[in-house]
Amino acid sequence: MLQQLEDLYKNALDEIGAITEKEALQAWETKYIGRKGKVTLLVRAVGQLPREERAEFGKRANAVKDELTAAYTRREELIRQRELAKSLEEGEIDVTLPGRPIPVGGLHPANQTLREIYAIWADMGFQVFRTREVEDDETNFELLNIPQHHPARDLWDTFHTTTPGVILRTHTSPGQIHAMRHFAPGPIRVILPGMCFRYEQISARKEIQFNQVEGLAVGTHIRLSDLKGTITAFAHRMFGADRKVRFRGSYFPFTEPSLEVDVECILCNGKGCSVCKGTGWLEIAGCGMVHPTVLRNGGYDPATHSGFAFGMGPERITMLKHGITDIRYFWGNDLRFLEQF
Ligand code: DAH
Repeated sequence: MLQQLEDLYKNALDEIGAITEKEALQAWETKYIGRKGKVTLLVRAVGQLPREERAEFGKRANAVKDELTAAYTRREELIRQRELAKSLEEGEIDVTLPGRPIPVGGLHPANQTLREIYAIWADMGFQVFRTREVEDDETNFELLNIPQHHPARDLWDTFHTTTPGVILRTHTSPGQIHAMRHFAPGPIRVILPGMCFRYEQISARKEIQFNQVEGLAVGTHIRLSDLKGTITAFAHRMFGADRKVRFRGSYFPFTEPSLEVDVECILCNGKGCSVCKGTGWLEIAGCGMVHPTVLRNGGYDPATHSGFAFGMGPERITMLKHGITDIRYFWGNDLRFLEQF
């Protein structure tokens, strides 16, 4: 039996020396030193030996088993090392490759334009004044000289809440009332940026939500020429110092007189293209002198005070600057659009 053990030992060592694969090593372990392995079974058979041979055999058997177990552990480590070296060589892991970039967000294109607008108006002394998006009908319409049933209400399709008289603001103009009541009787130079909501059938040019930037200046000697000069200065900073700017007569219930502002088309430089529909001009804002009724509603005496106001759409300005053809991209949450800015 001792000879049998020595033979097994020799065979096992010979075999393991040739093993290069994990699976073959596993099979070797099962064959020799596993629970039903040949060496294991032989060690268990010690009881069949004559008593006087048992001690010697047992000692040798344990030594053989220990050595084979050690040989197994060494081989296992060797195979692991070889596999690692091989996979490095084959390029499965290339530790010299640069890491994967972590995706970073960016400012929404509308916010980029808003910030540009804020900076320009800030340089002219206008501070940002924020007011509520959920408004009452009175401030959104009545106090701006748009009474119930007035046809001018048709200009603003409105989202109503379940609370009567509480609506989503259809424009930033109600902010004029809040600002006047906050600053009266002192002078005002503010811009009122923020989201507006209209219950409109949406199309490439219309959305149910969009930003506006309202502006308001109130003081004792403010004239139409101040409005024109200030808006022109803004348009030159925003669209280029050489851009022509023109004012057209218009109508808004809360201004008198009312005007609309056009700049020379920034895409075709006034020659006429599809964006300006061949006119050479792009409309960028509505504006006017604050209506005496609105001044009074804000707490100012129109006999001593006057003011101008304007309203512009940053998404529309962004569309003009980048040649974006559909306003619905802005709030469509599509990264393919947003990542371009
Ligand atoms: N509130 C107007 C709108 O939503 C825009 C506007 C026009 C604002 C003239 C003004 C203004 O302050 O003077 O269409």
